[in-house]
Formats: sequence, structure tokens, C-alpha cells
Amino acid sequence: MTYLEIEGANQLSGKVEISGAKNAALPLIVSSILAKNEVNISNVPNVADIKTLIHLLQNLGTKTEFKNHNLVLDTSSLNKTIAKYDIVRKMRASILTLGPLLARFKNCEVSLPGGCAIGQRPIDLHLLALEKMGANIQIKQGYVVANGNLKGAEIIFDKITVTGSENIIMAAALAQGKTRLINVAKEPEVVQLCEILKEAGLEISGIGSDELEIYGTNGELLEFKKIAVIPDRIEAGTYLCAGAITNSQITIEKVIPNHLNAVLSKLNQMGFESLIQKDSITLFPAKEIRAVEIITSEYPGFPTDMQAQFMALSLKAKGTSIIDERLFENRFMHVSELLRMGADIKLNGHIATIVGGKELNAADVMATDLRASSALVLAALAAKGTSRVHRIYHLDRGYENLEHKLKILGAKITRLEE
Ligand code: EPZ
Repeated sequence: MTYLEIEGANQLSGKVEISGAKNAALPLIVSSILAKNEVNISNVPNVADIKTLIHLLQNLGTKTEFKNHNLVLDTSSLNKTIAKYDIVRKMRASILTLGPLLARFKNCEVSLPGGCAIGQRPIDLHLLALEKMGANIQIKQGYVVANGNLKGAEIIFDKITVTGSENIIMAAALAQGKTRLINVAKEPEVVQLCEILKEAGLEISGIGSDELEIYGTNGELLEFKKIAVIPDRIEAGTYLCAGAITNSQITIEKVIPNHLNAVLSKLNQMGFESLIQKDSITLFPAKEIRAVEIITSEYPGFPTDMQAQFMALSLKAKGTSIIDERLFENRFMHVSELLRMGADIKLNGHIATIVGGKELNAADVMATDLRASSALVLAALAAKGTSRVHRIYHLDRGYENLEHKLKILGAKITRLEE
């Protein structure tokens, strides 16, 4: 198995380009199920989760070509509607195929994703919404078995759910009549999906707000225009944290600074100034890194996907930081690994108390999920000595060329085989 060896306590400098957003690309790729033409998507990150999804769509009969971050999908040959366990278990976001497959083919079977390292992650809200639209849904042998003609409906999501919103938006696109969605996720990735569907001819209003109205086409497929995936705000935030944890000046390029407002605001509270330009952000070293209080929430609040990285950063702050994880009940798996590096962190339910300012020591640590892994890499960049981060297949799911990009910034990092 591969691992990363990182010699820490070195400063970083320079510029790094941010890739397309994995979590935007996933629903956009799935939306090709709704297309009558070939779909062209550029700026697709070359990461494991994207390859898994492409594999899933190929398995259903889609023709695909993926080269130099450009993906071409032709779903005219899609002739199977069973998303198999073997592929779905590798990536929960496969559940995104449920809404569009059902809307287009009137029946489908999608394996239930099961639990995962950050919590239970149920999909009850996806299913309830589809039932409200007239779907008949049963769980059989670990699969969601769905059929029926989808009709527009009024759906109020009990909780804000990102992939739940995306699934139902895609289902509503081909349903018969008007769907009104209330308490929809406003994440930039959801907004881009809506914009792309609108460009493809879908009548949809309220984009960017928490209420959407969608006039379904009653089965008629959409004519997609060219798509460019938005920059990855979580990858961007992770590199900002790499600059911050080594107290260095770095610039991230090809970003949408607005998408990073909550992250920049917390960095600012911690003492880091930044220069924001049209599509780049330069972070400057802090005179003193201050402790911070963070509550994770839905966009535009502070993202749960940046919680682990800020926990690593708060280890360098003077004073006690508090992190309250409100979205996922088990998203503190990085804590026990950070403790192995000398961190002082106490957990009480969903609240972590971090006493910063202690010296971090290099250690062997184990990645447990995607963002937890990046927090370990960050801590290793700041720790004295040589750390090894194991099980980095988690990182490869969502960070493109992580060690190459960190090397560009001057980090001493190498990928090795055990
Ligand atoms: C998306 O997951 C992201 N994944 C996650 O990113 C991200 O952490 C999460 O949104 C929150 O921002 C993708 O976009 C592919 P949710 P998702 O449904 O959609 C509860 C990463 O590291 N809920 O918005 O699965 C749920 O348990 C990943 O890139 C229900 O109760 O998350 C959670 O508490 C990890 N029932 C809350 O809602 C449901 O049916 C928000 O989850 C659905 C969700």
C-alpha cells in the first residue's frame, strides 16, 4: 500500500492551481442521464471518486471518454438500470443515479450505500421525496428498488441535504408537472447543477435560494450545452490551511473566492490576512495564530468538509479552540491520530476542545476518511521530524495530485510503497 512521507516544520511558498470540484463534478456527470445529446464536461478532477462514477455509468451502458480533465458522456446507449453494490459501496455518491434513472426509465435498482466512516448517513430524505413524487419504493436485498411515473409535488426537506437536493432536482427535471422544493441545499455545487439544467432547457426558478420551482419535461430529455466544473472550494480551503499551519505566504489560483467566505473569515479571526483577487487568493503569515470557535453548518456557513483541516490548524493556535461538528455524528476520527502527534484535544459528543500551541511531533498516522486524511497531512507539515501518513487511498478519492501540488509549494513530501 502507498503512504506519504512528510518532513515537517518547513515553510511553504509560491502558487498552486486548484482543480475542479469533485462534489460538483459528481452530480453533473450523473445529470448526463437526462441528456438527449452527448455531454461534454471540462475541468473534471482526475480523482478516484470520479473514476468510480464513470465506471458505474459505463456499467449501465454509457459511452465515455476521459482525457486531460475533459469528459465526454453519451448516455443514448444506456440500457441497464441496476447500480450494483460492487461499485456503489466504493462511493456513496452513486446514490445520485437513483433520481435520474427512475425519471428516465420509470424503474431502477440502486444498491443502498450503507454506513461510512463519518457517520450513519441515511438516504431517507431522498426516498421520501421520490415517494411524494409517486414512486413506489422498496428495499430488497440491500437495493433500493424503485418504479413509477414521477409527478411534480411539493417537497419540504426536513433537513438540508446536498445529494438529496441534487437527486430530487434531477428527478423533477423529467417528471410530469411542477415540483416545488423547500429547504433545498444552497451549496455552490447544487447551484451549478441547477444552472446547467437551466442551460439545457429546463424551466427552473429560485436557483441559489432555498426554494426551487421546477417544471418537469414529462420524460423529454434535455439538450446539454458545454459544462466547465467550478473550482473545488474544499481543496482550495485545504491549501489555505497548508499555508496557515506552516505560517507561510502562498497563493491559490483558479478559485471562486466568494465560495470560500466562511473559511476566509475563520482564517482572519485566527490572525491571517489575505489578498483576494478575481480568481486567486494570497494568504499571508499571522503575527500570532489565535484560537477559534467553529460550528459546522450548511452553506454559506462553515463547511463540515473543512472541519478536520481547521482542527489541525488550531493545534498551532495560542489558546483553546472549540469545534462543534453539527452535520455528521462521527466526523472526529482524525482526533485519535492527531493525539499520536502530541495534540491536546478532548472530545465531548460533537464538541472538540483543542488546546493549541503545543509542539507537534512526527508520527506514523492512519487516514480514515477523505478530509481526515488531509488534516493528518497538514499536521505532518507542521510537525517536527518525518511523519508517515498511511491508507492514503482516502486522499486519492478527492485530492488530485496532492503531493505534487504540495511539492510545488516547497513541501518535503514523497509517495512511497509500504
Ligand atoms: C455531501 O454529502 C458531500 N458529498 C459531503 O462531502 C459533505 O460532507 C456533505 O454533503 C455536507 O456538506 C457530496 O457532495 C458527494 P448531506 P451528503 O445529505 O449529500 C443528514 C466529502 O468529504 N441526512 O447534505 O451525503 C445526514 O446524515 C464529502 O467530499 C439525513 O438525515 O450529505 C447529515 O447529517 C463527505 N437523511 C445531513 O443530513 C438523508 O436522507 C447532511 O448530509 C440525507 C441526509
